[in-house]
Amino acid sequence: MLHQKSLRARSSHAESCAACLRRPYKCIVPRAGTQQGIGASGPGLDEPIELIDGRVTSGPDLSVEVNGLKLPNPFIIGSGPPGTNYQVMKKAFDEGWGGVICKTLSLDSSKVVNVTPRYAKLRDSSNRVFGWQNFELISDRPFDVMLAEMKRLKEEYPNRVLIASIMEEYNKNAWEEIIGRCEEINVDAFEINFSCPHGLPERRMGMAMGQDPEVLGEVCSWINAVATKPVWAKMTPNVTDIAYPAAVAMQAGCEGVAAINTISCIMGVNLDTLRPEPSVEGYTTPGGYSWKAVKPIALAKCTAIAKTIQSEFAGQGKSLSGIGGVETGADAAEFILLGSDTVQVCTGVMIHGYPVVKNLCGGLQKFMAKHNFASVAEFKGRSLPYVTVHSELVKRQREALHARKQARVGLANDAEWSGDDFVKNAESMVANR
Ligand SMILES: Cc1cc2nc3c(=O)[nH]c(=O)nc-3n(C[C@H](O)[C@H](O)[C@H](O)COP(=O)(O)O)c2cc1C
Repeated sequence: MLHQKSLRARSSHAESCAACLRRPYKCIVPRAGTQQGIGASGPGLDEPIELIDGRVTSGPDLSVEVNGLKLPNPFIIGSGPPGTNYQVMKKAFDEGWGGVICKTLSLDSSKVVNVTPRYAKLRDSSNRVFGWQNFELISDRPFDVMLAEMKRLKEEYPNRVLIASIMEEYNKNAWEEIIGRCEEINVDAFEINFSCPHGLPERRMGMAMGQDPEVLGEVCSWINAVATKPVWAKMTPNVTDIAYPAAVAMQAGCEGVAAINTISCIMGVNLDTLRPEPSVEGYTTPGGYSWKAVKPIALAKCTAIAKTIQSEFAGQGKSLSGIGGVETGADAAEFILLGSDTVQVCTGVMIHGYPVVKNLCGGLQKFMAKHNFASVAEFKGRSLPYVTVHSELVKRQREALHARKQARVGLANDAEWSGDDFVKNAESMVANR
């Protein structure tokens, strides 16, 4: 009923709105009966568009289907502060996010003790933030409370995709319990946090599991033996070859992989106090680096995984959720062109707020309109074949040079005239042969 109502509002708006008729994908004129707020504002952000239940109202289709999950657009709230409780996850759905991944949950939150400050920013000379450090742990909220809130959210938004991010110790019963209890409240999928770089590895959780392919494979097989919903393994970039553990997780039954989690970092040292930062009572601990500075690293890691999916899991429907430094629709397009099915945003929400999804969708549509792409599926992985090994670049450059020489028209200079080929040489410079 609600859906039909919004469809009616959408078409009547498009028929009468001059802006819609002129530039459908850019229309930002508010429509009757739609959601609050129109995007975020700030330098470098795309123009926002209006979304109804996460769907675009005109222009190229942004909906995606991945592992049986139907998303109105490919933008998913990445696990972290933007998915900490009912209130913020509801806000994410209201603003139009394609899906929400909650802050990572574990069965016993009493073991999770956070400190403050736990974030630090790296700025460029114009004071724009391009790097973000955190040493925040997983959710410190009781598991039962989070489950109750997620149950309520799913009841209120039955058609929107809610993914449970979970993490546990090396204990089969604990994994079985956490999967079972999340399935009872009807989450749509799981993302397994094998990648948090701080705090949890001390308990042999998170990154400690993701860095140990043997343990990773075993835990993934426990999970996939009980889960009836799709499972994505969230990988750490803090390894030499991310494609290897990603393949281990998919081999053990995971339907997909998400990458990247944060990169181990220390933001800096205070040159007055000589204490490393961020400083808690004068001391620090390495944290996780995110935001724009990590995007090139994330693109390389996602490319390695996408190529492995193509070569080792062809036709098996394995998916990739790209994460790291996404601020614009163009950033997202790059992840998709290199093989991602969906794109997650975490720090971007902390910097620009939930409405930024409207800017992201606007930017992605703009890119698609420029290339006449009607759907996201149409350009997924398009740029992947053009990433190759260095020796292939050398070979191709040699061949291209040779071909250019062969195709050269005429003589380069008078020294090249040959007595035997004199007539041929002359002919090579005639315009109207
Ligand atoms: C403050 C903060 C807390 C985070 N907490 C989690 C978490 O609980 N679980 C998780 O899987 N990833 C967590 N992440 C990692 C993000 O989901 C994401 O993988 C990473 O930050 C890179 O994406 P971004 O540049 O869009 O933030 C956190 C990131 C930040 C900045």
